[in-house]
Amino acid sequence: MYVSRPLDSLVTKPVVQVQCTGPDWVPLKQDWSQRWCTLPDGYIGDYAERIGAFETRESDVFVVTFMKSGTTWMQELAWLLLNDLDFERAKSEYPFYRSPFLEYSVTNPDGGIDGIDKCNEMTDSSRLIKSHLPAQLLPRQIWKQSRKIIYVARNPKDVVVSSYHQMIGLLRWEAGLDEFVDHFIGDKIFYASYWEHIIDFYRMRNEKNVFFVTYEEMSRDLEDVVKRLSRFLDCKDLSGSEMEKLLNFLSFENLKGSKFGNPTSNIKKLRKTTNDFNFMRRGIVGSYKDELSPEQQDKIDKWTQSYLKEYGIQESDIFGSF
Ligand code: A3P
Repeated sequence: MYVSRPLDSLVTKPVVQVQCTGPDWVPLKQDWSQRWCTLPDGYIGDYAERIGAFETRESDVFVVTFMKSGTTWMQELAWLLLNDLDFERAKSEYPFYRSPFLEYSVTNPDGGIDGIDKCNEMTDSSRLIKSHLPAQLLPRQIWKQSRKIIYVARNPKDVVVSSYHQMIGLLRWEAGLDEFVDHFIGDKIFYASYWEHIIDFYRMRNEKNVFFVTYEEMSRDLEDVVKRLSRFLDCKDLSGSEMEKLLNFLSFENLKGSKFGNPTSNIKKLRKTTNDFNFMRRGIVGSYKDELSPEQQDKIDKWTQSYLKEYGIQESDIFGSF
């Protein structure tokens, strides 16, 4: 059911491409033999099946993203909504422990934490589980039992910049930005293909168990996203003062400056990083504008246009203009 093939990549860990053959539980009909996902080589063997067979619960909520798309920001928001705005706990425990990362042990096998076990051990009334896996590799029960999925997408040029810094910080990338751009658009970094990941969820955005939102929307009007998400999660309406408190809590400045809202020190504790690694980097839309050269931007834009042509949409249909 899960097959893999080796892939040459400059990522400082062996990578493979993984395919799920015929995932007819995903509500999207297409030729799945064209969908490969680049992952650390630890994903093959029993691991893919452990994830595929993961037992979900009725109250589970999954936060699914391509990496560096605002996952942690959304985890804080969704966790607070699901936990009756328990700011005290949010201020005293990293999101990583309140909202486990399903396939963590494959991206960080030396971390001593098995993401699947961590999820299984959770007794929370609603588990909020993070994953970066594409639709076809997610636990099958998510689709078969219609578990709630919050999907956050972010524009590709900002994801390139943010993931480049992350990969350098986590000692996964030693080459330059030019090579990274080529690897990104060549589907040679973890979780790629970026566009396949996004487009499959974009096309499923009207499924009743899918809440599709963009980092750009969250940056533009977080209050509106909170209201829509709250309805999706069947949470109570927030009063004006609760909303104000929540928006202040979720601001980049507040989370960056807070001990447990900023995951940097926890990441540094769990894995090797560069000294100057900082997870909360810039937190803006458009950081590519002064970090990618015009040639790099052009290359990514052309790749995007040629990919999206097949689906008859443009990047701005998903992310708006910015
Ligand atoms: P930058 O590297 O562009 O700053 P993820 O959680 O998926 O890894 O995404 C990380 C990105 O989300 C980083 O982007 C990070 O700064 C940004 N981010 C985290 N919290 C944020 C917040 N409260 N507001 C805006 N951006 C945030």
